[in-house]
Amino acid sequence: MLALDTSSEKEALNLAKELKSHVGAFKIGLQLFLSAGNRFVEKLVSEDLKIFLDLKLHDIPNTTSKAAIEITKLGVWMFNLHAIGGFEMMQRTVEAVAEFSQSTNLQKPKIIAVTVLTSMNQKNLEDVGISESITSEVIKLSKLALRAGLDGVVASAQEAAQIKNATKKEFMVVTPGIRPSFETSDDQRRVMSPKDAIRNGADFIVVGRPILRAQNKIEAIEKILEEIEETQ
Ligand code: C5P
Repeated sequence: MLALDTSSEKEALNLAKELKSHVGAFKIGLQLFLSAGNRFVEKLVSEDLKIFLDLKLHDIPNTTSKAAIEITKLGVWMFNLHAIGGFEMMQRTVEAVAEFSQSTNLQKPKIIAVTVLTSMNQKNLEDVGISESITSEVIKLSKLALRAGLDGVVASAQEAAQIKNATKKEFMVVTPGIRPSFETSDDQRRVMSPKDAIRNGADFIVVGRPILRAQNKIEAIEKILEEIEETQ
């Protein structure tokens, strides 16, 4: 999945058009969503693009479920919320989306939970009062998300194998923090190469800057795909 991390609607649209046959889906995060808005999301959906709306909802259950219904109306393929928002928040959101999709005959989006941000390390976690190791926190939140009926989680590829073991095969693991061999890590702390991410059980990798700042974006994507194919 390519992270369309830009505030320019025009740039995002050009990227989507140029790269749609090279990537599986496009991730729209807060930056682009706040600048281009939901009509832009609908526009990309109407061009048959698979959109992962990465707004990381985290609020009281009533608010997240109502927001999730609005997201469902946009026709996106996937969206996410923070598992740290708790079991009830996740479960009520899943139920609201399922009910709404059924009654309107709209496609039910996949709902995945953010476990621990890939920019966090052990010290950052301690700073916010979590003394658990990153791995056990990620596993705990993944199991909670599975129990609440979610389709998967966003996590570092470093934890993908353990998440699969602790949940089930079909529980999707989506991994940002991917750095191909030709790149630097930026603000990402728990990074992994595309090859190791897939080998470790990731179902989808999310890549932003390594593609966005490449001179030749298609070549960067092809290099990433080649790295992945080495695992097959
Ligand atoms: O540029 P880079 O490849 O680091 O982009 C990663 C993308 O994935 C960014 O859009 C970031 O917001 C997102 N993301 C993340 N860690 C998470 C969830 C989403 O890096 N846990």
